[in-house]
Amino acid sequence: MSDFVFAARVSDVTEGQLFATLVDDIPVALTLIGGELRAFGDVCTHDGGPLAEGTVMDTCVMCPRHGACFDLKTGHGTFPAAGPIPVYETRIEGDEIKIRL
Ligand code: FES
Repeated sequence: MSDFVFAARVSDVTEGQLFATLVDDIPVALTLIGGELRAFGDVCTHDGGPLAEGTVMDTCVMCPRHGACFDLKTGHGTFPAAGPIPVYETRIEGDEIKIRL
């Protein structure tokens, strides 16, 4: 049995744009960076800001509230982040994007 679960349709996620969803009640955001899919936790570790309402900059997402930047490969966050965000392994099956929580 696969432990990858449905997160979005391929058509939901476009280059440089942030798509927010819930996967098993967990807030998740997805984007494409240079054609590579990224899926990550949609909650800033500083004070809970919604990262999918932020901005993609190079390989990071900037929180819309106080400007912490999170690397979307490693999850590492800059000040004032209190720690990394989760980043999720992704898989495309047909027109579905699945992630491993
Ligand atoms: S809530 Fe994200 S930087 Fe403060």
